[in-house]
Amino acid sequence: MGRIVIGNWKMNLNLAEATVLAQSYLKVAEKHPHITIVAAPSLPWIVPLHEAFHWQPPNFAFASQVVSGYPEGAYTGDIAASQLKGLVKYALVGHSERRRYHHEGGSLIADAVKLLLGNKITPVVCFGEMAQSTQKAFSAQITLDLERDLVGLTPDEVGQCLFAYEPLWAIGTGHPASPDYIHKVIASVQVWSRGQYGLELPILYGGSVTEDDAQVLGRLDSLRGLLVGGASLHARPFDLVCSRFAKSG
Ligand code: PGA
Repeated sequence: MGRIVIGNWKMNLNLAEATVLAQSYLKVAEKHPHITIVAAPSLPWIVPLHEAFHWQPPNFAFASQVVSGYPEGAYTGDIAASQLKGLVKYALVGHSERRRYHHEGGSLIADAVKLLLGNKITPVVCFGEMAQSTQKAFSAQITLDLERDLVGLTPDEVGQCLFAYEPLWAIGTGHPASPDYIHKVIASVQVWSRGQYGLELPILYGGSVTEDDAQVLGRLDSLRGLLVGGASLHARPFDLVCSRFAKSG
């Protein structure tokens, strides 16, 4: 599996804007066949975009920003993994904004992972600490959180997921974590994961990534990809993030 850059559009853009942006993502994907480029639009745009871009290159895909931990049924406002099947290849699970504003968490994270895998969608499980602290403290907290989120999943199921390390203090603040900090977190998560599941996790970084730091992040061998919010909303910065991340990788 190569590197991947996911643009998380959050609750932004109308359909016309989303269509133009998706078009520019396709060009980025064509320019960088060795990285996977993923767009995570608002839910209502996934169907029209999927229909408009059915000729997409193999290294381009859509992601859902959200998925229910419940199977289809009486859950008003939720979207089931089975309803996303065929429309998206990836889905974010447990993004910090979903946890914060919609109280997502607990066993529903692992349930969502299972439902996604059953529908051939790769879960992108998001995790990250609230505040910057000593390495020992945050590493312990992060692995405790991951352990709770992934409870009941088999090593085979965990091995089919992507993970996005997104420290809350870095998201949307204009202050990304330093490469050294990211590297240390990833290293300690891998120690935990090897012990727990006998495998290393593919980990992306997200939190105020811009074209200014994409190159230095690209030099981190331990990093599988990026989850980009603000800088993913415009063609030029997103293109630069991908180009610089790809070039230095
Ligand atoms: P940001 O968002 O790049 O705007 O910090 C990242 C995210 O929340 O996924």
